[in-house]
Amino acid sequence: MKIYEKLLLENKAWAGEKVKVDPEYFSRLADIQKPDFLWIGCSDSRVPANEITNTQPGEIFVHRNIANLVVHTDVNLLSVLDYAVTHLKVKHVIVCGHYGCGGVKASMTNHDYNQVLNMWLRNIKDVNRLHRDELNAITDEQQKFDRLVELNVQEQVIHLAKTSIIQRAWKNEQRPHLHGWVYGLKDGLIKPVFEMSANTNIDSLYEYDDL
Ligand code: CO
Repeated sequence: MKIYEKLLLENKAWAGEKVKVDPEYFSRLADIQKPDFLWIGCSDSRVPANEITNTQPGEIFVHRNIANLVVHTDVNLLSVLDYAVTHLKVKHVIVCGHYGCGGVKASMTNHDYNQVLNMWLRNIKDVNRLHRDELNAITDEQQKFDRLVELNVQEQVIHLAKTSIIQRAWKNEQRPHLHGWVYGLKDGLIKPVFEMSANTNIDSLYEYDDL
């Protein structure tokens, strides 16, 4: 059996098991999706959103990319954000990073990963520069790495608040609540590190006054 064929076989077994326990499982989900959460996570295969939060299909709208970045020119992320916030009307947006993130680690080196990856990692280097004093004060390399993972999540949450998508929803509907979380690969636990409730003040440079 080819390795991908195992996925299809397991899928059949999974679908059969679901229907056995709950005959309406799929017909119910096919009708509507009304998730309360948008999850912006890392593409890392060890951090599956549904599994680590013990949630079911239909509960979390998901976007993942390398190192869970919110880049203000990323049409993919912004369309997911707009759809989730403006149309699905999610109540919470969660940026979930993870300790041991390969993307964050790579951004701490001076290695040339070729232009496309260099461009992506540049965003994390900018977070590093923004918090250089705090990070430079940490002598232990592992601790510095862990802290950059946390600060990266924090900055991505702030990037969300800078979008007109979030600011309009905050103004009109006092949602969504923004969360920055970090998942631990070693213990499976999520640590909340940052949050912004609706209408939290941000740098006025980024505030739209005619929404
Ligand atoms: Co990662």
